[in-house]
Amino acid sequence: MTDPTQSSSYPYEEEFESHFDAPLVDQDDQSTAITEQTMEELRSLAARYPDSRSALLPMLHLVQSVDGRVSPAGVEACAEVLGITAAQVSGVATFYTMYKRRPGGTHHIGVCTTALCAILGGDVLLDKVEHKLGIKEGQTTPDGTFSLERIECNAACDFAPIMMVNWEYMDNMTPRKAEEILDALAAGEEVHSTRGATITSWRQAERVLAGFPDGRADEGPTAGEASLRGLRIAREHGWHAPDPNRLPQPDTEEEGK
Ligand code: FES
Repeated sequence: MTDPTQSSSYPYEEEFESHFDAPLVDQDDQSTAITEQTMEELRSLAARYPDSRSALLPMLHLVQSVDGRVSPAGVEACAEVLGITAAQVSGVATFYTMYKRRPGGTHHIGVCTTALCAILGGDVLLDKVEHKLGIKEGQTTPDGTFSLERIECNAACDFAPIMMVNWEYMDNMTPRKAEEILDALAAGEEVHSTRGATITSWRQAERVLAGFPDGRADEGPTAGEASLRGLRIAREHGWHAPDPNRLPQPDTEEEGK
């Protein structure tokens, strides 16, 4: 059978891009705002885990909160604290899309275009946001206020289409509502997630993700109406999850694998 990717007429060869194709940590930009206090905080994160290496993900979020990206100095700092190599840190930092190799904007906007959001307008929403900001996905506005990302399913399909601002949900989004939110953020006005949380900045959100709470975790409900509807229906009908201690046993050894 012929391998279609070997054919010169294979249509996607030059077009498909994934974040794995993006450049590695930007070694050309050696700037950093990491201080001794940051190092202390990195060490405190490492000390929270029985195996300190488990702290690498929150440590990288802390680096982003300080440098606005995963900086070469941040990679070195994590490696030093954990006693591993910079290559090992870079391997993790360049695997996950939440870690940025170029500085994010003050506000990081994400638009979900995975199946359900796309069907309900996610592609149109992304297009409108790109026009509004004058940038394409993966770019930051020249003044550094906004960066934009196309996001895979946010696990919030019951509120599709979803836009995120600094990882906070903007549910059931429309182009007009998105424009209003972007205008308000640009004007420095107070903006709330549709679930209640006050929008701060991408860096502050990164610090919270690192494990340094800002006291806002309880702003707004923790689950929205659409998610709770199933729970309410189950209660009305007396449905409940099976008792884990009384689950039916598999019939055969094969089924139990
Ligand atoms: S498809 Fe967009 S949140 Fe699931």
